[in-house]
Formats: sequence, C-alpha cells, structure tokens
Amino acid sequence: MNINPLKGVHDLINDEAFDWDSIIEMMKKVFNAFGYSYIQVPTIEMASLYARKGDSSDVVRKEMYQFLDKGNRLISLRPEFTAGIIRAIISNKLYINDQPLKYFYYGPCFRYERPQAGRYREFNQIGVEFIDEPSIYNDVEVIRLAYILPLAFHLKVKIKLNYLPSRASREYYIKELKEYFKGHLDKMCSDCHDRYERNALRILDCKVPTCQEIVKDAPKISNYLSIDEQKDFLFAQELLKELNVNFVIDENLVRGLDYYSGLVFEVVLDDNEGEDLGAIGGGGHYDQLIAELGGPSSLEGVGFSYGLERFVSLARRYAFSHPDYHPNRPLLVYAPLCEEAVHEVFDLSMKTRNKYLFRSVQFYHPVSIKSALKFANKVYAPFIILIGEDELKDRVVTFKNLLTGHQEQINLDDYLDVINNAVADGLMEAEKEGKVHLRKEVR
Ligand code: HAM
Repeated sequence: MNINPLKGVHDLINDEAFDWDSIIEMMKKVFNAFGYSYIQVPTIEMASLYARKGDSSDVVRKEMYQFLDKGNRLISLRPEFTAGIIRAIISNKLYINDQPLKYFYYGPCFRYERPQAGRYREFNQIGVEFIDEPSIYNDVEVIRLAYILPLAFHLKVKIKLNYLPSRASREYYIKELKEYFKGHLDKMCSDCHDRYERNALRILDCKVPTCQEIVKDAPKISNYLSIDEQKDFLFAQELLKELNVNFVIDENLVRGLDYYSGLVFEVVLDDNEGEDLGAIGGGGHYDQLIAELGGPSSLEGVGFSYGLERFVSLARRYAFSHPDYHPNRPLLVYAPLCEEAVHEVFDLSMKTRNKYLFRSVQFYHPVSIKSALKFANKVYAPFIILIGEDELKDRVVTFKNLLTGHQEQINLDDYLDVINNAVADGLMEAEKEGKVHLRKEVR
C-alpha cells in the first residue's frame, strides 16, 4: 500500500504549526484594525468561475486541479481566493447593504506546479479584498496594509509596483510588443513562444536571462498610460512615500492572473537572501472582474494575498530563530517611578495599544529604576519608558534603549506620534552597533 505524501504537499508539526497560528492571529489583528471582516469560501467551485473566457494565465490554463463530479460538473479546487470571494459577494448580494466591502481570508489553494523551494501544489494564502467604487486611496491603503504585515515580524520588504493600462490601451501595447518580439523569437525560450501567442505581456516577466536581455529594449508600458492613468500612478507614489512605504517601480511586473488593471504590486524581501522563495505576496486592482461575474459594474476591487508557507518560513528564519527568542517577550516596559506617574503610564500604554500592536508590559505601582531595569533585563525587553517626578514636571518621558544604552526624552504630548519610529530607529541603531541582528530581533 502506498501512503506516501503526494508531491508538493507538506505537514505542519509542533513549533512550525504553533508559529503558523501565531502569525495568522497577529495578521487578523491588523486586518481588524483596517476594517476587514472575516470570510470563508468553499475550496471547490465550478471550474468556469476561474476559467473565464479568454483567460491566458498559467494558473488557470495549466495549473488548475479539475475533476468531473458524480453529477458530471466540471469542478476546480481553488487556485486562488479572489474569484471565489467575488462570487460569494455576488451570490449573497452582499453589495446591496454593505459598501465598501472589506474581507480577509485564509486557507489552502491548489496549483499543479513543479514543486521547488517555497512552491507547493497545496499551499495556503492569507489576504484581503476591498470592493468599492474605484479610488486610488483604496489601492494605496491596501498596499500599505500589505507592507506593514511583514514589518510586524521584522521582515524588511520592498514593494515592486507597476501600473497596467486599461484594456483598450493594453491591447494596443500588446500589439506593439508582439511587433517587437517577432524579430527575436528565435532566441527566446519555448515558454515565451507560447506567451507570444497567448498574451505577450507575460514575456516581460520571463526569468530566462536571454529573454530578459531582449525584454530590456522592448516598448515600455508607461508610455501607454493615458494622462489620467499617469496622474493616478504618480499620486499613488506620492501617497506611498508619505506613508514611508519602501517601493520600486518595476515596469515588467505584469502579475500572473488576468483580471488586473491599474496598480499592481508584489512584495519581496529587501535584499537577496529570500530570493530563492520568490515573491512573498502580490496583488493589485481589478476593474472588471465583479461585472464579469454578474455584479454591479460600478464596483471594482483591490486586494493581495501572501503565500503563508513563504511568509512563515521567512519569519521563522529571521524573526523566530534568535536564541533569545521568547514568544512572550515585550518590546516595551513602562515604569512609573513615583505614585503620580502611575496614571500617566496607564494612559500612555492604553492609548499606544489602540494605535500600535507591539507588546508592552507595565507596572501600575511605583518602582525603583533598579528593579524596573532588572525586570526589563529578565524578560529581554529592548526598551524601557521611565516616568518620574522630573519627567512629570517637564511633561516628557525617558525612553531608554537597553541594547545600546542610549536614552532620550520624548515629549508627552508627542508620544503617540513618535514612539513607533523611536522603537524602529532604536532597533536599527542597535543593529548598526552590532548589539543585535535586527532581522533576528523578536516581534
Ligand atoms: P498570486 O501572486 O498568484 O496572487 O499569489 C499570491 C502569493 O501566493 C504569491 O506571492 C506566493 O507567495 C503564493 N503562492 C502562489 N503560488 C504558490 C505555490 N505554488 N506555492 C506556495 N506559494 C504560492 C493571487 O493569488 C491573487 N489572488 C492575489 C490577489 C488578491 N490579487 C488581488 N487580490
């Protein structure tokens, strides 16, 4: 009897299963803060939900798990969530009472791909879909959300960003691309020959070096954006800069699914260390999917999914692998040094929790500096907030970086605005001084 596991599947055991759960729990809190509700959709759907007319993607054409059920219906295991979520919104007419619609989801997906590092046939996605009348603010909010999730696990990522022109100009662009690639096809890989016939846009994404060389001189997508699209793209970039999102424009980013139009993005580690795993997540704006599936044409969507296997493996590699790693370790300890400071500690820590997610512990009775530091050391907290009589008089707190010994005063009235950056800068400073490997620092 052969009971070997199938190719491209995996079991989750012990610590890994624990980390997996804690990462999902943490992400749920962030989704909640951004106004997302939870949705569950079936793993099986009619194949026609994914294999829509004219679809040119590998995910749908080559990689879907399909079978005829006993009623002779062609069924698919879901290769991704987006189409299923839109189907659920339409089947349940959710758009009638609720708008905007914001849903997060997670669960298994199936793609019959060649298994390799970070690539499975059964894998898990976690992500969001935001359905509303179109607005570039929605798109930017979603990118910002995608950006902070890995940061919460001290994974330094960057967003690769591109803007796909609307259908009509895209058709024209594809025609021009085909014109250009026609003269080079003999030097290009067999997959690109196939892409040339189905959707020449995807050639831009080819990873084969000879094809990449040829792509370098191909017509650029940005030249095919309308004036309004160019403005939208520039405005999105401005907003992302304001939000401190680390992004780069990648004109060859076209995404593997067909429904996108407008802003598209992928999330990758900020250096090469994680390249072997490919993109950790990806998403973008889709303009016609809702109408195509029978929903109102006024609604468009934007969303992203992270591949959980890739996310968890990087979080485990960089954040959880430190010998000092302690799941209950706080980032901040608040210590009131006199009776009058207790209420200030209460107030600050509560307000900070409403705004940020990092773990903190505080005393609600006066403590000596010595015992506060002893406690902070015992629980490996990297930062401590001290509030004594002097601080109260000057309306400041003392923020001490226990990794570097550096301390500074933060104005009480600015505290909520600056504490997040103070923590991030403090960790970076410690890393520069070789006191801590930031990536291996804990949540
Ligand atoms: P996708 O880029 O096809 O987008 O997949 C999202 C993520 O799922 C990838 O970045 C990767 O981390 C993970 N992933 C994909 N295939 C595999 C695999 N075979 N093994 C392991 N991980 C994998 C979508 O699926 C879109 N539905 C995202 C989206 C949501 N766009 C708008 N809303």
